[in-house]
Amino acid sequence: MKFNRRNFFVKMIQGAAVLSVPAALSTFLESCMKSSNPLDSGNTSSLTQIQGSISGNTVIVTVDSSSPLSKTGSAAAINYTNGQLLVDHPSGNQFTALSSICTHAGCTVSGFDSGSNQFVCPCHGSRYDLSGNVVQGPASQALPQYQTSFANNVLTIKI
Ligand code: FES
Repeated sequence: MKFNRRNFFVKMIQGAAVLSVPAALSTFLESCMKSSNPLDSGNTSSLTQIQGSISGNTVIVTVDSSSPLSKTGSAAAINYTNGQLLVDHPSGNQFTALSSICTHAGCTVSGFDSGSNQFVCPCHGSRYDLSGNVVQGPASQALPQYQTSFANNVLTIKI
């Protein structure tokens, strides 16, 4: 091929097209990943975070009228030193505490679908009911559940 002005521009345009493919592909993949984020669907959002404290193997959380867990049907993530739990408040003085470690591949389950009352893992979309049972995979095992008690606005969880 002769090197002339025309060939120079043809090669330059071909080079620009080759360079723009990865950028376009990256944008496409990014938009696909965003739209498939399990926490972006329906009534699902990130759980409210509450700080608890730990003493031995007991996690302690104040649940008074200002707590995000005060209302029946509410759910939240309880953070404590070196850990996190999923807690929901099904009725009266009843609370359920679950491990927040997804049984599929160990991600932190951090979403809650208030329409279906399900905990949602952001990594691959596994869903668990309020007792920790798998509703939707890829997880196949339930979240471990911990014993709770509630008195005088204090929720106690044995881990
Ligand atoms: S780690 Fe939770 S669904 Fe995969």
